[in-house]
Amino acid sequence: MVKARIAVIGAGLMGHGIAQVFAMAGHELIITDSVSQNLDTVRARIAANLRDLGDDESAAERVKPLADLAAAVRDADYVVEAVSENLPLKQKLFAEIERHVRPDTILASNTSVIPITSIMQGLSRRERALGTHWWNPPFLVPLVEVIETQWSSPQAVAWTMQLHEAAGKKPAHVKKDVPGFIGNRLQHALWREAISLVERGICDAETVDAVVKASFGRRLAVLGPIENADQVGTDLTLAIHETVLPAIDSRPGPSPYLEKLVADGKLGFKSGEGFRKWTPEQQTALRTRVMQHLKGTRNM
Ligand SMILES: NC(=O)c1ccc[n+]([C@@H]2O[C@H](COP(=O)([O-])OP(=O)(O)OC[C@H]3O[C@@H](n4cnc5c(N)ncnc54)[C@H](O)[C@@H]3O)[C@@H](O)[C@H]2O)c1
Repeated sequence: MVKARIAVIGAGLMGHGIAQVFAMAGHELIITDSVSQNLDTVRARIAANLRDLGDDESAAERVKPLADLAAAVRDADYVVEAVSENLPLKQKLFAEIERHVRPDTILASNTSVIPITSIMQGLSRRERALGTHWWNPPFLVPLVEVIETQWSSPQAVAWTMQLHEAAGKKPAHVKKDVPGFIGNRLQHALWREAISLVERGICDAETVDAVVKASFGRRLAVLGPIENADQVGTDLTLAIHETVLPAIDSRPGPSPYLEKLVADGKLGFKSGEGFRKWTPEQQTALRTRVMQHLKGTRNM
């Protein structure tokens, strides 16, 4: 793929990692942020990640921090937004971006859960707008969900898929702009039942995680649920569903157990207790274990 001029809006956790991936793929990057300290440190953060991964640190030099939004997007072929998860902020930002870009510049949002349709509805050229949902950390988790809205042009979707594939990512085309896209719908269907098992006293929180990690979690990176269903047989899958699905939590809203944890200030790592208690050492150990695991899957 030809090298593109890319602008990344937001130099936080996701923005700096997205910029890193495109810089490693050889693209010229401009990154902007409303907080000057985040721009001052962005190259150093990318260089530190690259050093840690054993990658070429000089790629960080292709990332140019620029405070002025208009100048950052003016010559861009592609703009990806990774600012805070706030709908009015994102709507205002894209309206501003559209005043400065070419008519054919593709505009993407990295929102986690806000419908792309809501973010992009006010644009005058909505055919060039879509979602690109990366996963943290962007340089270690391969998936990028490319979300098409009712207005997105097939050309914009195809170009964006190719951009990410050429950068070494695994883009997945989400053909309808539904809440949670694909990955988070699947993930949170599992979390709902996980929480329900604890709530109903079937097992404790540690046991839920131990069961997942010691069983189908071991296979998930190489055996997806649909492959698995075909492997065991659709007839067996049907028989299992006839027995198990009526017993599984199907309440439409969040669990009252989860709501009580939040009301009691049991917010997880940030308060030292959520479903379980977490010392700072346990938190660091878990984060380290996840990073080590993801690094080990880089060439899968
Ligand atoms: N953290 C995750 O695991 C994750 C995963 C997938 C998607 N996302 C989504 O990515 C987006 C960014 O999340 P994050 O975790 O990187 O947040 P973050 O808080 O680390 O970074 C957001 C950055 O945006 C900057 N910003 C805020 N308003 C701005 C503006 N008007 N112009 C320019 N910069 C502005 C902030 O200064 C900050 O540096 C959110 O929409 C989030 O939902 C996050």
